[in-house]
Amino acid sequence: MDWTTLYADRMARIGDSAIIALLKLAERPDVISFAGGLPDPKSFPILRMKEVVDWVLDHEGAAALQYGPTAGYSKLREWIADRMGRLEQTPVTADGVIVTSSGVEALDLIAKVLLNPGDTVIVEAPTYLAALHVFRSYQAELVDVPIDADGMIIDALEERLADLTRRGIRPKLLYTIPTFQNPAGVTLAADRRRRLVEVADRAGVPVIEDPAYGELRYEGDRLPSLVSLNPEGVLFANTFSKIFGPGVRLGWITAPPGVIAQLCQAKQGTDQCSSTLGQRVVYEYGRRGLIERQVAASLPLYREKRDLTLAAMARYFPSGVTWTRPAGGFYSWVTLPDGVETGPMLEWAIAHEHVAYVSGPPFYADGRGANQLRLCFSFVAPDKIEEGIRRLGRVIEQHIELRHHRRRRE
Ligand SMILES: Cc1ncc(COP(=O)(O)O)c(C=O)c1O
Repeated sequence: MDWTTLYADRMARIGDSAIIALLKLAERPDVISFAGGLPDPKSFPILRMKEVVDWVLDHEGAAALQYGPTAGYSKLREWIADRMGRLEQTPVTADGVIVTSSGVEALDLIAKVLLNPGDTVIVEAPTYLAALHVFRSYQAELVDVPIDADGMIIDALEERLADLTRRGIRPKLLYTIPTFQNPAGVTLAADRRRRLVEVADRAGVPVIEDPAYGELRYEGDRLPSLVSLNPEGVLFANTFSKIFGPGVRLGWITAPPGVIAQLCQAKQGTDQCSSTLGQRVVYEYGRRGLIERQVAASLPLYREKRDLTLAAMARYFPSGVTWTRPAGGFYSWVTLPDGVETGPMLEWAIAHEHVAYVSGPPFYADGRGANQLRLCFSFVAPDKIEEGIRRLGRVIEQHIELRHHRRRRE
């Protein structure tokens, strides 16, 4: 069978096997990897989790191993709704919540419910790789809006919307990661939050708010979520991966109940229900107040890593290199002088200096960002951070030099 002739058209739009290969290389034990967005394993609650798993299996083992409702375990939905009311000052009821099998599935279900091929989705430039992947797999047209140190530039959003209106196009969705953005690490300023929901609402465009890292704040005050500013027009698609652990593969969406019903229909065609065992364990763990304890305990871990990374970059990165200073989350976004390409540089960095990152282009809808890279500081052990950044500084310096030579020859 010649499988290569059989793949669906969408695979040509979403596939980039080069990244998968490089991320694999970055996993080598001798490589200091700032590549994958992995939580610190020290934040994982293994011992407490064992107690909770035992409790669930002892008390409700049969139900935990059975299929469950498509919208999710009712007690977990209530707990999520209640917690959102407290954290986001948004009145949510359990029927406005669907539990998903990860944050990526949350995005996938929303896209499945709302996107026809050719529909337009507005994204940030740069944005989360997997979100681009999801929207592309539903054959969406992507329109991007630049960001700066204060998140999405709302004047630019208005220009894009005006341009689309002139062309008779009304976007179907606007996807944003307002807090501690992936990959840029930046946070949407309070005034821009208000403007964003107003502008989107006026244009009749639903917003997906992806708050994946929002609870991991290392300094400053919490800002209002977009959903709290416009509960009717914002789908809040969150994950347990960064506040609990990605291994449980659970997330959730809050949305108006009519949309939840459609999302449940869509989920019938994927996994019918998210892991029942996982949901009961997360509920019990959350009910005991352990998620709040875990988040509180992980903040100093991540803050220390962020500080070590920022200090090392200031020390070892050559002049002409700039980077963002995140107030939370996992990432800093690094911009090198024009003409230094982080894609080819990565192969060199892994092979010669045993250090890894993710290069810029995959984070952009149109593949720009050749001179940018994402550094994830959450996973590397604190005693390896300085050495990793020192190596990367050396790689960058060499590649700036190479660029000078190339330019002189040209
Ligand atoms: C911005 C953003 N959204 C959503 C997710 C989804 O995480 P998961 O699929 O593990 O729930 C991630 C994970 O890296 C992320 O960075």
